[in-house]
Amino acid sequence: MDAATADRNWARESKRLGHAVIFLGPPGAGKGTQAQRVAERYRLPHLSTGDMLRENIRLGTEIGRKAKPLMEHGELVPDHLVLQMVEERIAEPDCKDGFVFDGFPRTLAQADDLERICRRIHFGSTVVLHMVVQPELLLRRLTGRRICKANGHIYNIYDRPPKQQGVCDVDGSALLHRPDDTEGVIGERLATYEKQTRPLVEYYQSRKQLSAVDAMAGADDVTASINRILNGAKEAR
Ligand code: AP5
Repeated sequence: MDAATADRNWARESKRLGHAVIFLGPPGAGKGTQAQRVAERYRLPHLSTGDMLRENIRLGTEIGRKAKPLMEHGELVPDHLVLQMVEERIAEPDCKDGFVFDGFPRTLAQADDLERICRRIHFGSTVVLHMVVQPELLLRRLTGRRICKANGHIYNIYDRPPKQQGVCDVDGSALLHRPDDTEGVIGERLATYEKQTRPLVEYYQSRKQLSAVDAMAGADDVTASINRILNGAKEAR
């Protein structure tokens, strides 16, 4: 039995995770890559606020119209808009056994509100995975990133290239280069992270909810570290 099949069987046979999992880390730390894997392993919804906002932009909604210029400049979208989207999404039935946040919360106000929402809906505990990575690696990861337009699969032209340039291995769809993955905007995004999101490390550390993950290792090794942490959290329930 290959590793992927074993993982799927394990997830089917075991109880659901029952936690809110939060990926915390700078742009390019690998939050999306690993959140996809955790969501698949535990059969939980993967809630990426960046993806939700990009979908709102694509659909031309009011949230999308407000978010677009901010995202183009590497700034955060106002808390109340993000919280509105998140609150609606986690009220959906597929979130009742847990969910995986990628890119949320990103400010202390968002973290406080998430805690309030989880209390209100009597949701269990939160595991925060802090993706620790040296800043020098991030530029290469982000400028090299390509994303499948159809299924969101993430590639990197330097380290994880598709078999055929510009084409997804999984379904043959075109690969996109995100407009905020240019050097200038990446600099702004990293500065925004340091100022507005890094304080969450201390916030979750003080609540004993934070687990550090060495996100500089290869993607499969990072997955193995995360699985160890989540298996421990599952057993502790
Ligand atoms: P968002 O879409 O959340 O982007 P981000 O946080 O900047 O993070 P990224 O998606 O760029 O990186 P990642 O850590 O997911 O890395 P990935 O796995 O893709 O947010 C975009 C914008 O939306 C924000 O700037 C803001 O304006 C707005 N926004 C979103 N949420 C918000 C919120 N809550 N509040 C307010 N505003 C919000 O990997 C990157 C690359 O590295 C890939 O090519 C991948 O293949 C490669 N890679 C991954 N892991 C490894 C590894 N271990 N080794 C080698 N390469 C790797």
